[in-house]
Amino acid sequence: MKMWVLKTTIFLQILSGFCFLGLHSKTHKQYTFVVKEVQYTRLCSTKSILTVNGEFPGPVINAHQGETVYVNVYNRGTHNITVHWHGVKQPRNPWTDGPEYITQCPIKPGEKFRQKIIFSTEEGTLWWHAHSDWSRATVHGAIIIYPRKHRTYPFPKPYAEVPIIFGEWWKNDVWKVYTEFRRTGGSPNNSDAITINGQPGDLYPCSNSGTFKMNVDQGKTYLLRIVNAAMNLILFFSISKHNLTVVGADGCYTKPLTRDYIAISPGQTIDALLYANQEPDQYYMAARAYSSGAAVPFDNTTTTAILQYNGNYPPISSPPLPYLPYYNDTQAAFNFFGSLRGLPKRYPKSIPFNATTHIETTLSVNTFPCPKGQTCEGPNGTRFATSINNISFVAPSIDILEAYYYHIKGVYRKGFPTFPPFLFNFTAQYLPLELQIPKKGTKAIVLKYGSVVELVFQGTNLVGGIDHPMHLHGYSFHVVGYGFGNFDKAKDPLQYNLVDPPLLNTVVVPKNGWATIRFKATNPGVWLMHCHLERHLSWGMETVFIVKNGKGWNETLLPPPPDMPRC
Ligand code: C2O
Ligand code: CU
Repeated sequence: MKMWVLKTTIFLQILSGFCFLGLHSKTHKQYTFVVKEVQYTRLCSTKSILTVNGEFPGPVINAHQGETVYVNVYNRGTHNITVHWHGVKQPRNPWTDGPEYITQCPIKPGEKFRQKIIFSTEEGTLWWHAHSDWSRATVHGAIIIYPRKHRTYPFPKPYAEVPIIFGEWWKNDVWKVYTEFRRTGGSPNNSDAITINGQPGDLYPCSNSGTFKMNVDQGKTYLLRIVNAAMNLILFFSISKHNLTVVGADGCYTKPLTRDYIAISPGQTIDALLYANQEPDQYYMAARAYSSGAAVPFDNTTTTAILQYNGNYPPISSPPLPYLPYYNDTQAAFNFFGSLRGLPKRYPKSIPFNATTHIETTLSVNTFPCPKGQTCEGPNGTRFATSINNISFVAPSIDILEAYYYHIKGVYRKGFPTFPPFLFNFTAQYLPLELQIPKKGTKAIVLKYGSVVELVFQGTNLVGGIDHPMHLHGYSFHVVGYGFGNFDKAKDPLQYNLVDPPLLNTVVVPKNGWATIRFKATNPGVWLMHCHLERHLSWGMETVFIVKNGKGWNETLLPPPPDMPRC
């Protein structure tokens, strides 16, 4: 029996090899990603950064809905790396999803991995990024998914499309920033600038000439494909004298939502229409941090780009900055997030009504005591940690997917708690110190194929409450409710939106609040779920879903590709 399975696998691989060489080579688009260090100058100083093909932000991947694309990733850098296709569901194929030690071992310097990206229902804008240590700071780019042939956008066709990618720039080497805060247990240094398409913008020193400019014709409509690739910052974004009409989020179209500013968390993407309906002139586009965490004061420096109308006119000498909410304006952030609505007409029958699996999780910032003989730079001389249901995730040394597939023992354990281990007033202003210390663990939540999962995220005020943009790999989920304070199991579900909840891959759980998502577990495999604030991820705010196979072949995990990186 085993032999038979092995032979079939080899046969299938030979077959797919043939397809690649001959039969279907025209139908699969191929990209080459060479990960390598290149010199870049920003904020008056030059340093070497890790890039894909020398570009920052990296190259755009273009596809049509339902297409399959291959990316040959070559590691020509000096550290291990992996690449993840954020928001691409990869049906039955977690093998090339990317998170280090979850679905693969890293690509070592000098090695290569051919990654298959299977697009299915996604349309609009997504993105790709490195998924190992902090290399995603500069290793990221947009994914643009056009409608299938003979299908159109659910909005008038824009005249042109422009990617707007937010990032963060450190003058220091990001690898050093990473290793330093991991060593001391303290908070990582704040970045020195927020960037738009790789540029800090003209309010920062030495940044005038590079400032990103978007040229428009008066009277035309443009589609902005907005990606927040920043490491640790939720952002507000707006354009002077112009509104934005959001028509999509996280690779799914939404009901149109017109606002004078948007909020976007790391991991999220937004498609927004911009109508160039003002007097020909230059207008500022600007973004700055929404940073509610009491422990992390963030400076209010604003990154800018310029919306520049075509034509002959004398530009006003000092254009005003647009309105942006203040950096701790939680109401402004959730006024936006909470107004997004899905487009059930376009995605019929996708809203799950009756949940079969209920999961409740607490999201906490924690501390570990400082090991003897060391000095630690976390709160009161401790080390920072984060946890889900009081478990701070520890990455294994063999990836969980291979351990699951090949039945390798001792890599991870089942039985991640699906309910908080202690109940207390999660959002109380003062919480006892002894609740701060989490457990360490490498545990997974195992789901039966087809379970309808309802998952409540509850943010706690341990150490300090803060918003958590929670991201799930392999799925989109409906955000059916959210609120401030403690989740009330009796009352809050009565208010769930089961009519037009947005379909996202990253939900921002409010500071000292909660959010509920629903999804149907129809994608077998191993899928990571984590906070998309990079420092929280580094400290352990992550867990893994293992979704078992269903019955038919199309409900079964695919075999691994032949060139999986070795552990
Ligand atoms: Cu943007 Cu684990 O991903
Ligand atoms: Cu977080």
